[in-house]
Amino acid sequence: MAVTKEQVLAALSKVPAPDGTLLPATRTLSDIVVADGKVFFSMTVDAAAVKSWEPVRKTAEDAVRAIPGVQSALVALTAERAAGAAARGPQPSHVAQNRAAAAGPAHTHAHPADNVQPGIPGVDAVIAVASGKGGVGKSTTAVNLALGLRDLGLKVGMLDADIYGPSLPKLLAIKEKPQTIGGTRLKPIDRYGLSVMSIGFLIDEETPMIWRGPMVMSAITQMLREVEWGKLDVMVVDMPPGTGDAQLTMAQQVPLKGAVIVSTPQDLALIDARRGVAMFKRVNVPVLGIVENMSYFLCPSCGTRSDIFGYGGARKEAERQGVPFLGEVPLHMTIREKSDCGMPVVATEPDGVHAKIYRDIAVKVLEQIRGGAAAGRAAPKIVIEA
Ligand SMILES: Nc1ncnc2c1ncn2[C@@H]1O[C@H](COP(=O)(O)OP(=O)(O)OP(=O)(O)O)[C@@H](O)[C@H]1O
Ligand SMILES: [Mg+2]
Repeated sequence: MAVTKEQVLAALSKVPAPDGTLLPATRTLSDIVVADGKVFFSMTVDAAAVKSWEPVRKTAEDAVRAIPGVQSALVALTAERAAGAAARGPQPSHVAQNRAAAAGPAHTHAHPADNVQPGIPGVDAVIAVASGKGGVGKSTTAVNLALGLRDLGLKVGMLDADIYGPSLPKLLAIKEKPQTIGGTRLKPIDRYGLSVMSIGFLIDEETPMIWRGPMVMSAITQMLREVEWGKLDVMVVDMPPGTGDAQLTMAQQVPLKGAVIVSTPQDLALIDARRGVAMFKRVNVPVLGIVENMSYFLCPSCGTRSDIFGYGGARKEAERQGVPFLGEVPLHMTIREKSDCGMPVVATEPDGVHAKIYRDIAVKVLEQIRGGAAAGRAAPKIVIEA
């Protein structure tokens, strides 16, 4: 028989909080997620009271484990700062690292009342690279755009928010694991001058990804806030496809400076791109523009151009949506080969035509980040007004 939430709540109703209130009555519990005999939930408590809650967390975990049919239980304590406490966001105190992150890390709540979108210390601007549809080249574009921004003299970080199918380990040929600082915070991995973090560094490729909404949120929140990003001018976030939990979490948890939407030119992709634009607009994240990827095909042997997916759809869509058009990237064997073996074109063929295309896109993105001011190599430092 499958374990139910009601059984979990019944077990928790025997566990008292530090003040004697039984857990279900404390209003600290997150959604309880039950999946295949695994139970996850978090308890959000006052940061000052974390110590006294730790034994409660442990007792709650044991009580849930004792329910027949429960194979594992993970209860996370999430410490919440008092409203008005500056700079940092809510801090999960029970840091689930490495494989534990895949098993179900702490859940940080985003209560509407304290949805103040605190910044990431040291990071000036966070931009998301997204699309409604999968496989249109978001990750490839994100990596080369990040490198293009690097070439403009910026200090750039990359966060792989695609926790279902992380791509950055492959696209940047990163096999090593990140080091921890002080046992709790992770150090991003440096590749081609970019500071990179991906859930793919922490889990095996074969690990099944049974993420549920709250887990998605907390994994991303942890990667944003429990990583020593250092000083960054721009953080480029490679988003998973779609307009679901991960996108909304980003929009709620991080003050996104804006989103770059990637689309291929065909109608079906454009419908999804439109959804992506609409979603970011709905959560008040400016759309920095649309990139048309796999825009046209230039035959490497005869030079003939073929508009495989039809051409110019994304430009027209950008006009229709009133958002900037950032550029066209051709469908080219070199981009695919280089990308898939961890040698992105902007880093490894900096003088090639493709690198120039991505750098031009980076300039346009930078212009948008700076509020439309002319951007150039001469003065690349971004000044973001508070
Ligand atoms: N302009 C391009 N020319 C040739 N191949 C490309 C181009 N852009 C992307 N690709 C290839 O297309 C495939 C999908 O690209 P990518 O992984 O970047 O897409 P994605 O939108 O991030 O996918 P997902 O939705 O799965 O995250 C990869 O093999 C990549 O190398
Ligand atoms: Mg991707």
